[in-house]
Amino acid sequence: MSDSRVPRRRRFLVCEPRHFAVQYAINPWMRPDAHVDVDLAREQWQALMSAYRTHGHDVDVVEPVLGLPDMVFAANSAVVVDGRVFGSLFHAPERRAESTHYDTWFKSAGFAVHRPESVCEGEGDLVWTGRYLLAGTGFRTTREAHREVQEFFGHPVISLTLVDPRFYHLDTALFVLDDGHANNIAYYPEAFSPGSREVLARLYPDAVLATAEDAMAFGLNSVSDGRHVFIAPQAEALAAALTDRGYVPVPVDLSEFRKAGGGIKCCTQEIRS
Ligand code: ARG
Repeated sequence: MSDSRVPRRRRFLVCEPRHFAVQYAINPWMRPDAHVDVDLAREQWQALMSAYRTHGHDVDVVEPVLGLPDMVFAANSAVVVDGRVFGSLFHAPERRAESTHYDTWFKSAGFAVHRPESVCEGEGDLVWTGRYLLAGTGFRTTREAHREVQEFFGHPVISLTLVDPRFYHLDTALFVLDDGHANNIAYYPEAFSPGSREVLARLYPDAVLATAEDAMAFGLNSVSDGRHVFIAPQAEALAAALTDRGYVPVPVDLSEFRKAGGGIKCCTQEIRS
């Protein structure tokens, strides 16, 4: 069974947590007085990078900027599909300056960047399934941005409403297991409005459903290459369910980043050319 899952090599964009800290609170996980163990955070992040490289993935890095402690969460800065880059416009003023630095990286790497007109937090809320985009709204990215994203990429965008502030970005409540032939997702139903839950159940009748414990452990903030799932070790039930389906969980602990409301996927943007 597990041999039927075929990985696809990915290109990831990341940002080293050199200036990572919790200095403001823009989601329920953040406490401005939280102590972040900076050395541990760096070690955890390095472990994620080694795991990606060991599994054959390419990693590009953006230079971190002093005074932008959340810049490590590369997923929020753009969504890239078919080599087209849709940039970010952050909800929180504290994060707005990050976009320019990511845009600069994309331009130097040879990409043109589309600047959004309304709030849009990249892959935090825009998830490419291989066929269309699932798009979260409710806390950060707006419905206007969903329309703009559809117009820009020419791929269908399916809007989903998030209802629990702990799962303020779509990528804290859902991830794609396979964006190829075996197209499927894992998600935490309670994070979504009743209508959005129904939409997900119709689109993915065979989805892997996560428990509240899995979700609280940031188990849905995972990255899958189609076979290996880079996942928080605390999401035990989810990892077991994935193993049953033939996926191979690769546990990586980013506990220090949870203090900022982030995990594995938040630290990882995928460049799809
Ligand atoms: N502190 C950051 C924020 O609230 C965390 C971002 C996490 N990123 C993600 N893709 N969910 O914006």
